Amino acid sequence: MKFSTTLSAFVLAFASFAQAQLGDKIAAKGKANFGAAADANTLQNANVQRLLQEEFSSVTPENSMKWEVIQPSLGTFNFQQSDALVDFAVENGLDIRGHTLVWHSQLPAYVDAIIDKDQLLALMENHINTTMSRYQGKIFQWDVVNEVFEEDGSFRNSVFFRLLGEEFIDTAFNIAASVDPSSKLYINDFNLDGPGPKIDAMIGLLGRLQTRGVPIDGVGSQAHLILGQVGSVGAQLARLAETGLEVAITELDIRIEAPVDQAKLIQQQQDYQTVVGDCIGIAACVGVTVWGVGDKDSWVDATFAGFDSPLLFDDGFVKKPAYAGVEAALGASVVVNPGSGQGNGGDGGNGC
Ligand SMILES: *[C@@H]1O[C@H](CO)[C@@H](O)[C@H](O)[C@H]1NC(C)=O
Repeated sequence: MKFSTTLSAFVLAFASFAQAQLGDKIAAKGKANFGAAADANTLQNANVQRLLQEEFSSVTPENSMKWEVIQPSLGTFNFQQSDALVDFAVENGLDIRGHTLVWHSQLPAYVDAIIDKDQLLALMENHINTTMSRYQGKIFQWDVVNEVFEEDGSFRNSVFFRLLGEEFIDTAFNIAASVDPSSKLYINDFNLDGPGPKIDAMIGLLGRLQTRGVPIDGVGSQAHLILGQVGSVGAQLARLAETGLEVAITELDIRIEAPVDQAKLIQQQQDYQTVVGDCIGIAACVGVTVWGVGDKDSWVDATFAGFDSPLLFDDGFVKKPAYAGVEAALGASVVVNPGSGQGNGGDGGNGC
């Protein structure tokens, strides 16, 4: 009995070591998660399912929990796609980052068209309540509000800000906290990677929310980055952490201007090591999520003309040098092979 227990413990320990999971490695550094974005569409690919199982400890729905999908017309809720993602996550022991409840984009026209403050408040409350209630207890972090700032640090002129002012944020967090107190509640934004008016505005807002007693737990820095431009990420993450909230890198990708070549893939490896290392080095940074599993499924191709190959796995779902950069940041003793990732998946030729 004793022998077999010891043996199983050994086999388990060996197995988890051999699997080299990013999720396990970041957990060993005291962090909550190393995740990836996915959804019902990308989960149709067996490689995406396999890599989520083998490598990652959390998943974020890339689109399926956005307002236009969840409540496409007033009062009609559709959880088919988000249920599929949640079911997969639960079956495979993956934590879930909920994304996102109140956001100006991918928002149906009927919401934008509202001009009555009380009507918008009631709708926002019902949307948050209905969505969070469905997954109550299953979502370890929720992006309650997303992308409230313009680049110059002013509030984005969303229907929420227009009718309710800054306090739409307070309201959203208060509702969220009352619906699912077990979830960590986040505000999330992009371009918090360098100094300037946007991150200054975010830090100012976080201070006011805390002063007003708003139940916010964390701030997500999306970190949609450009190759070779990651040097200021760590200092800005540290500034966000100084607010006393937890921080997370929530949508990491590092896009490469085409044509992709070996030197750029090695630069990307260094950049991933830098950024993941930035989170590791900040006690308040609880985890990292990359915005997709394989380059093939990344939003970058369709969004940033001339940019490509932003993720850890290539078009054929083979590890890129970037993966070794993450492993190095997570403290694994890996031999970095600059040749790995070259010549597969057609990375060099699909920049359009
Ligand atoms: C959420 O909905 C339930 C059921 O309709 C209701 O009892 C509860 O008060 C609502 N909570 C909030 C915060 O709106």
